[in-house]
Amino acid sequence: MYKVIYDTDPGVDDAMALLFLHRHPEIDLIGITTVFGNASVDTTTRNALFLKREWDIEAPVAKGANVTIDPLRKEGAWPTFVHGENGLGDIEVPETVDLPLDPRPAHRFIIETVKANPGEVTLVAVGRMTNLARALREAPEIAGLVKDVVIMGGNFYVPGNVSPVAEANIHGDPEAADIVMTAPWKVVVVGLDVTAITTMSRGYLADVAARGDRAVKLLNDLSQDYIDFYKHAVDDGMMVHDSCACVYVVAPQLFTTVRGSVRVVCGGIADGQTIVKPDGRRFPPGDWDGLPSQVVCTGIESEKVIDLIRDTLLGI
Ligand code: BDR
Ligand code: CA
Repeated sequence: MYKVIYDTDPGVDDAMALLFLHRHPEIDLIGITTVFGNASVDTTTRNALFLKREWDIEAPVAKGANVTIDPLRKEGAWPTFVHGENGLGDIEVPETVDLPLDPRPAHRFIIETVKANPGEVTLVAVGRMTNLARALREAPEIAGLVKDVVIMGGNFYVPGNVSPVAEANIHGDPEAADIVMTAPWKVVVVGLDVTAITTMSRGYLADVAARGDRAVKLLNDLSQDYIDFYKHAVDDGMMVHDSCACVYVVAPQLFTTVRGSVRVVCGGIADGQTIVKPDGRRFPPGDWDGLPSQVVCTGIESEKVIDLIRDTLLGI
């Protein structure tokens, strides 16, 4: 069993990934931590509680960061044109959900849960990296206690999605992402190189919903506006970014990777760009030296990934 803490900003594709984690038989979802990104942390936390209630998820929800690790960074507007005003495709969601939150802030929940399960926890982070960076700053020793970290974020050999060179989760808090990439733990980076070519069509999702229970029908409903948004890039379908990171946990053989140290550009016109120095390539001394070698996904068997998501949602 993989013990997973899911750090998330739900978020439409976050919701699909949550249902995947909840339903995959080899995954023990032991916590959900929320972060700002697709909406404010108040909204993403309410959405996490809403999905927990609707989908009968046992894992506790701990509320996380609402500002970048560097508090002086200027915040942009929420991407309501992607995930809706309410972060869940503007389906009907109650103002508040009457379920208790874990009393700890997300980063402390992460620290304490990792310490209670040394060597066993996989952190799957699919929003800004702020909670993980906070956890590392407060308790750097957790780097040696986490099993591995799988993130959705970044882009290496393809363009970004919020600037020509940057992806949203990294661009939203580049300093935090650089802390996470350079810490002495194993990070697997599942970025746009693989997620932007892994799409689920409207018809495919509708078919899954027709065969599935009310949880899958809810997922189908909340995905409709997101699919509309992707008209510019996908033929009547959506990129399933965050689910790709979850699939990596249970099926890494569906990905091809390169290894190397990863840095994040902080500031300037390339703010949020992720850059890997592939192991074995020789350069003059530089800012990538002496850092841990991370795993960067460069290829994916998209059809198999999409089918695995379908089968998991349907409990096949
Ligand atoms: C990432 O940004 C968010 O909009 C999605 O939920 C995903 O985590 C894709 O760039
Ligand atoms: Ca996300």
